[in-house]
Amino acid sequence: MNYVSKTAGVTWKSPSNIALVKYWGKKGHQLPANPSISFTLDQALTETSIQAEFKEQQSGIDISFSFENAKNEAFELKLKSYLQKGVQQFPWLNHYHLDIHSSNTFPHSSGIASSASAYSALALCLCSLHEEISGEKLVDFYQLASFWARMGSGSACRSVYGGYNLWGKTPALSNSSDEYAVNVDHLIHPDFQAFNDTILIIEKGQKAVSSTRGHALLEQHPFAEIRYRTGFDNTERLLKILEAGEIKDFIQVVESEALMLHALMMSSPTPFILMKPNTLAVLEKVWDYRRQTGSNLLFTLDAGANVHLLNPVVENAHVQEFVKNELLGYCQNELYFCNAIGNGPVKQEK
Ligand code: DP6
Repeated sequence: MNYVSKTAGVTWKSPSNIALVKYWGKKGHQLPANPSISFTLDQALTETSIQAEFKEQQSGIDISFSFENAKNEAFELKLKSYLQKGVQQFPWLNHYHLDIHSSNTFPHSSGIASSASAYSALALCLCSLHEEISGEKLVDFYQLASFWARMGSGSACRSVYGGYNLWGKTPALSNSSDEYAVNVDHLIHPDFQAFNDTILIIEKGQKAVSSTRGHALLEQHPFAEIRYRTGFDNTERLLKILEAGEIKDFIQVVESEALMLHALMMSSPTPFILMKPNTLAVLEKVWDYRRQTGSNLLFTLDAGANVHLLNPVVENAHVQEFVKNELLGYCQNELYFCNAIGNGPVKQEK
């Protein structure tokens, strides 16, 4: 293959996303057992830069990786085996040295480690480098980026676009796929187009059980089939709800997805609990608040102790008051992180 550039460089800033219907359980290689829907965040970002230099000698994958200016050998190893999977699609990977630098905008030591923002930023960099090095324009640039983000971490494939995204083949959406996510913004009712996600940091630090391990535990899970069916049904339901603008139904589906995710963890043959007492206390406070005020504030959870508070933007001033007055005491070091629905990744100018 003839390479048109001997050196190439690119930087992408890419966001995390929050799942409304959860991906929990895999089939085949990094394919989801059921479809999922998320929206993209606007503040929780990873910025990744890759500088590529042509090598005269071909020597396989050759990279150096640093995170927030410190060399990170553990992630460098993970990255090597990830890039190895990409050699067929991006043959130049065997002929270039890659110098990779990454950093997050998450609050310092908040314990929010996002594989979604990390792998979406990386996959976007790979696609941009491919165009620069090969001189070939990628027709389905974002679709390919979503595919390669998925190969790193499933949830990452939903982070290459802004707004609302769906991953996983479902009869409810004709262009849906298990291999990459698709954007569904054109289906979303105006009431759902401006939403906030306030992330309450209940506990910083590494989780006891990784998501990857959690997915694997579904294989032996007595409720796996029921869960997958519910994931399909809730995706179909949520799409209709998002189209019709039905907030009460939205609350019911999204909270039930969050609680089911954690119920699956607790009921797995090797059980584990990622919620903390303060997680549960916050969930009850949200229910009380909703009962007392008639608000449309709701919660969701990812695979950890932190709580995501979701609300329509019109309610944000009241919700922020509620957080400051009543929820800060449940957060570690009173840490929380405000996000809204974001517009998706941005390529940084050189
Ligand atoms: C609970 O995408 O982190 O956040 O594919 O093994 O990297 P891997 O898993 P990951 O799982 C995310 C699980 C979740 C739900 C979701 O984002 O849909």
